[in-house]
Amino acid sequence: MPKLAIVYLSTQGSTKMMAEAIAEGAREKHIDADVNNFYEWDPIDVAKYDAICIGSSTFYYTMLEPIAKFIDKLIEIGIEGKIGAAFGSYGWSGEAPVQIAEKLRKAGVDVIDPVLRVQYIPDKKDLAECIRLGKDLALKMKKKQK
Ligand SMILES: Cc1cc2nc3c(=O)[nH]c(=O)nc-3n(C[C@H](O)[C@H](O)[C@H](O)COP(=O)(O)O)c2cc1C
Repeated sequence: MPKLAIVYLSTQGSTKMMAEAIAEGAREKHIDADVNNFYEWDPIDVAKYDAICIGSSTFYYTMLEPIAKFIDKLIEIGIEGKIGAAFGSYGWSGEAPVQIAEKLRKAGVDVIDPVLRVQYIPDKKDLAECIRLGKDLALKMKKKQK
Protein backbone atom coordinates (compact mmCIF):
# COMPACT_ATOMS: atom_id res chain seq x y z
CA MET A 1 0.00 0.00 0.00
CA PRO A 2 1.41 3.46 -0.87
CA LYS A 3 2.27 5.62 2.12
CA LEU A 4 1.63 9.30 2.79
CA ALA A 5 3.76 11.46 5.13
CA ILE A 6 2.16 14.64 6.48
CA VAL A 7 4.59 17.12 8.03
CA TYR A 8 3.47 20.36 9.64
CA LEU A 9 4.57 23.41 11.56
CA SER A 10 1.83 24.96 13.66
CA THR A 11 2.22 27.50 16.46
CA GLN A 12 -1.31 27.45 17.86
CA GLY A 13 -2.80 24.33 16.36
CA SER A 14 -4.67 25.55 13.27
CA THR A 15 -2.32 24.01 10.70
CA LYS A 16 -2.17 20.91 12.91
CA MET A 17 -5.97 20.57 12.68
CA MET A 18 -5.67 20.77 8.89
CA ALA A 19 -2.93 18.10 8.88
CA GLU A 20 -5.05 15.69 10.91
CA ALA A 21 -8.08 16.19 8.66
CA ILE A 22 -5.94 15.54 5.55
CA ALA A 23 -4.77 12.27 7.16
CA GLU A 24 -8.38 11.35 7.94
CA GLY A 25 -9.35 11.84 4.28
CA ALA A 26 -6.45 9.71 3.02
CA ARG A 27 -7.24 6.94 5.52
CA GLU A 28 -10.87 6.93 4.39
CA LYS A 29 -9.47 5.94 0.99
CA HIS A 30 -7.36 3.21 2.63
CA ILE A 31 -4.03 4.97 2.40
CA ASP A 32 -1.51 4.57 5.20
CA ALA A 33 -1.06 8.18 6.40
CA ASP A 34 1.40 9.23 9.10
CA VAL A 35 1.06 12.75 10.48
CA ASN A 36 3.57 14.52 12.72
CA ASN A 37 5.00 17.87 13.67
CA PHE A 38 8.20 18.56 11.67
CA TYR A 39 10.45 18.18 14.73
CA GLU A 40 9.11 14.68 15.33
CA TRP A 41 10.01 13.62 11.79
CA ASP A 42 13.42 12.59 10.47
CA PRO A 43 13.72 13.85 6.86
CA ILE A 44 15.43 10.56 5.94
CA ASP A 45 12.23 8.71 6.89
CA VAL A 46 9.93 11.22 5.15
CA ALA A 47 11.90 10.85 1.90
CA LYS A 48 10.97 7.13 1.86
CA TYR A 49 7.22 7.84 1.56
CA ASP A 50 5.38 7.74 -1.78
CA ALA A 51 3.71 11.10 -1.17
CA ILE A 52 4.71 14.06 0.99
CA CYS A 53 2.26 16.69 2.20
CA ILE A 54 3.78 19.72 3.96
CA GLY A 55 2.02 22.47 5.90
CA SER A 56 3.06 25.69 7.59
CA SER A 57 1.32 28.77 8.87
CA THR A 58 2.52 32.13 7.52
CA PHE A 59 4.67 34.44 9.63
CA TYR A 60 5.96 37.78 8.39
CA TYR A 61 4.90 36.92 4.84
CA THR A 62 6.82 33.66 4.71
CA MET A 63 7.06 30.12 6.10
CA LEU A 64 9.07 29.83 9.29
CA GLU A 65 12.78 28.98 8.96
CA PRO A 66 12.64 25.48 10.54
CA ILE A 67 10.16 24.16 7.99
CA ALA A 68 12.13 25.77 5.12
CA LYS A 69 15.25 23.99 6.41
CA PHE A 70 13.35 20.72 6.74
CA ILE A 71 12.27 20.94 3.08
CA ASP A 72 15.85 21.76 2.03
CA LYS A 73 17.03 18.60 3.81
CA LEU A 74 14.36 16.55 2.02
CA ILE A 75 15.50 18.00 -1.32
CA GLU A 76 19.13 17.15 -0.51
CA ILE A 77 18.13 13.55 0.20
CA GLY A 78 16.08 13.46 -3.02
CA ILE A 79 12.30 13.50 -3.47
CA GLU A 80 12.05 13.81 -7.24
CA GLY A 81 9.04 12.08 -8.82
CA LYS A 82 6.97 11.89 -5.64
CA ILE A 83 3.44 13.20 -5.21
CA GLY A 84 3.06 16.26 -2.99
CA ALA A 85 0.70 18.84 -1.52
CA ALA A 86 1.04 22.04 0.49
CA PHE A 87 -1.28 23.60 3.05
CA GLY A 88 -1.45 25.97 5.96
CA SER A 89 -3.43 28.33 8.12
CA TYR A 90 -2.84 32.07 7.70
CA GLY A 91 -4.12 35.45 8.84
CA TRP A 92 -4.03 37.97 5.99
CA SER A 93 -1.51 37.12 3.27
CA GLY A 94 -0.89 33.34 3.39
CA GLU A 95 2.39 32.98 1.45
CA ALA A 96 3.74 29.88 3.23
CA PRO A 97 1.81 27.12 1.36
CA VAL A 98 2.58 28.78 -2.00
CA GLN A 99 6.29 28.90 -1.11
CA ILE A 100 6.24 25.26 0.02
CA ALA A 101 4.65 24.21 -3.27
CA GLU A 102 7.26 26.20 -5.24
CA LYS A 103 10.15 24.55 -3.41
CA LEU A 104 8.67 21.07 -3.89
CA ARG A 105 7.95 21.65 -7.59
CA LYS A 106 11.50 22.85 -8.20
CA ALA A 107 12.67 19.57 -6.64
CA GLY A 108 10.60 17.58 -9.15
CA VAL A 109 7.61 16.79 -6.93
CA ASP A 110 4.17 16.55 -8.59
CA VAL A 111 2.32 19.00 -6.30
CA ILE A 112 -1.48 19.16 -6.25
CA ASP A 113 -2.72 22.53 -7.50
CA PRO A 114 -4.01 24.75 -5.89
CA VAL A 115 -2.49 24.74 -2.40
CA LEU A 116 -4.92 24.55 0.52
CA ARG A 117 -5.15 27.62 2.74
CA VAL A 118 -7.46 28.30 5.68
CA GLN A 119 -7.83 31.67 7.39
CA TYR A 120 -7.11 31.31 11.12
CA ILE A 121 -8.88 28.41 12.91
CA PRO A 122 -10.47 25.92 10.48
CA ASP A 123 -14.24 25.57 10.75
CA LYS A 124 -16.31 22.54 9.72
CA LYS A 125 -16.36 23.57 6.04
CA ASP A 126 -12.59 24.15 6.03
CA LEU A 127 -11.95 20.75 7.61
CA ALA A 128 -14.16 19.13 4.96
CA GLU A 129 -11.85 20.69 2.34
CA CYS A 130 -8.85 19.22 4.16
CA ILE A 131 -10.49 15.79 4.16
CA ARG A 132 -11.12 16.29 0.42
CA LEU A 133 -7.40 17.02 -0.13
CA GLY A 134 -6.51 13.81 1.73
CA LYS A 135 -8.85 11.88 -0.55
CA ASP A 136 -7.44 13.57 -3.68
CA LEU A 137 -3.92 12.66 -2.59
CA ALA A 138 -5.00 9.07 -2.00
CA LEU A 139 -6.60 8.80 -5.45
CA LYS A 140 -3.51 10.28 -7.12
CA MET A 141 -1.28 7.81 -5.24
CA LYS A 142 -3.42 4.83 -6.21
CA LYS A 143 -3.55 5.94 -9.86
CA LYS A 144 0.25 6.19 -9.96
CA GLN A 145 0.63 2.76 -8.42
CA LYS A 146 -1.38 1.11 -11.21
C1 LIG B 1 3.77 37.42 14.89
C2 LIG B 1 2.80 36.96 13.83
C3 LIG B 1 3.05 37.23 12.50
C4 LIG B 1 2.14 36.80 11.50
N1 LIG B 1 2.39 37.11 10.20
C5 LIG B 1 1.47 36.74 9.24
C6 LIG B 1 1.67 37.10 7.88
O1 LIG B 1 2.65 37.72 7.49
N2 LIG B 1 0.72 36.70 6.99
C7 LIG B 1 -0.40 36.00 7.35
O2 LIG B 1 -1.19 35.64 6.49
N3 LIG B 1 -0.60 35.65 8.64
C8 LIG B 1 0.29 36.01 9.59
N4 LIG B 1 0.08 35.65 10.90
C9 LIG B 1 -1.15 34.90 11.26
C10 LIG B 1 -0.93 33.40 11.41
O3 LIG B 1 -0.48 32.82 10.19
C11 LIG B 1 -2.27 32.76 11.83
O4 LIG B 1 -2.56 33.16 13.16
C12 LIG B 1 -2.37 31.27 11.70
O5 LIG B 1 -3.71 30.88 11.92
C13 LIG B 1 -1.47 30.50 12.68
O6 LIG B 1 -1.65 29.12 12.44
P1 LIG B 1 -0.96 27.99 13.33
O7 LIG B 1 -1.71 27.92 14.66
O8 LIG B 1 -1.07 26.73 12.57
O9 LIG B 1 0.48 28.40 13.51
C14 LIG B 1 0.98 36.07 11.89
C15 LIG B 1 0.75 35.78 13.24
C16 LIG B 1 1.66 36.22 14.22
C17 LIG B 1 1.37 35.89 15.67
